[in-house]
Amino acid sequence: MIFVTGGAGFIGSNFIHQWLKFEKEDILNIDKLSYSGNLENLKNIEKNPLYKFVQQDIVDQNKIFDLLLEYKPRAFIHFAAESHVDRSIHSPLEFVKTNLLGTFSVLEATRLYWSNLTEKEKEVFRFFHISTDEVYGSLDDNDPAFDEEKKYEPNSPYSATKAGSDHLVRAYFHTYGLPVLTTNCSNNYGSFQFPEKLIPHMICNALEGKNLPIYGDGKNIRDWLYVEDHCEAIRLVLSKGKVGEVYNVGGNNELKNIDVVETICSILDELKPKAVGSYKDQIVFVKDRLGHDRRYAVSTKKIESMLGFMPKESFKTGFRKTIEWYLNNPEWVANVQSGDYKKWIKINY
Ligand code: NAD
Ligand code: TYD
Repeated sequence: MIFVTGGAGFIGSNFIHQWLKFEKEDILNIDKLSYSGNLENLKNIEKNPLYKFVQQDIVDQNKIFDLLLEYKPRAFIHFAAESHVDRSIHSPLEFVKTNLLGTFSVLEATRLYWSNLTEKEKEVFRFFHISTDEVYGSLDDNDPAFDEEKKYEPNSPYSATKAGSDHLVRAYFHTYGLPVLTTNCSNNYGSFQFPEKLIPHMICNALEGKNLPIYGDGKNIRDWLYVEDHCEAIRLVLSKGKVGEVYNVGGNNELKNIDVVETICSILDELKPKAVGSYKDQIVFVKDRLGHDRRYAVSTKKIESMLGFMPKESFKTGFRKTIEWYLNNPEWVANVQSGDYKKWIKINY
């Protein structure tokens, strides 16, 4: 069996679907179900005998240790985090709790469990930390893409707490020999993403006839990776990655925010045309995010040359699939837009 934390969120739920499809090995999902955790993402596999769910905050180390003793997994994949930069600007404490204390808690519980395994079990065990390219800081237009040697220069409470969690993982390898793997991935998009993040936010607002709010001048750049490609990279690193190593993961798809939003509008104009005009008419420029990082770009040379990873989806094909998914799942969208979502939109926009 393997454990995942945060499996009811965007990337974690996509990972569980892919795991059950290709690996056919038991998987236990530990998730506290914060505002972004949604069991609807897992509805069509909840009865799969290989899948189990436990509602649990990762900060409770004793509970995590008990689960480890009960199920004896061979790997622990740690997705759970507070993940939205804008929220980290409004409420940084939650980020310190989950991203720093939570990661410490799962590392410490895992270390205690791992140190009592047999030598053979110890050797094959893996603790896999899912992290972000944002820990490396911000690039200017002509700077080279982040490679794994890039100095950490996190700028938001989100990226600072993720950077701290990466350092804890590194320290558990160097100090205790815990067999860890870390990936630092660029911006993901795809099905089941909570519509506070740029791409689903723009799709949902466009369809509802609302403004499409672009921060600042819209020229900030992100590298976009289709979530299923990210999940493939994680499975590859889990099976073939070298213990103690860090792998950057990216889509080789650098785009300005304005180009992302205009592309979404063009695809929507084709798939669900408005009675009059284009969805582009809904674009508005709004006050910039505090401390807004200008550009992220990821060098994927290491994971390509060492493990043979190549993303399957291009920006164009992945975007179309994603927009089609949101168009085909209006109930999911309506359900996640109740409750906390409404409060958040009031606070941020
Ligand atoms: P998400 O916000 O959609 O999901 C996070 C999940 O973690 C939710 O299910 C939530 O309930 C759970 N969670 C939060 N706090 C918890 C706690 N204290 N205990 C237990 N569960 C808790 O986030 P996501 O986009 O799926 O991101 C998953 C991971 O991938 C994060 O570690 C994030 O830093 C990393 N990452 C995300 C992206 C991206 O573009 N979304 C890119 C690179 C890396
Ligand atoms: P986001 O999806 O929040 O990811 P991150 O900040 O982790 O990269 O935002 C992606 C980019 O889109 C980022 O430069 C901020 C910008 N953005 C907007 O312009 N408007 C919005 O409403 C949102 C949510 C983001």
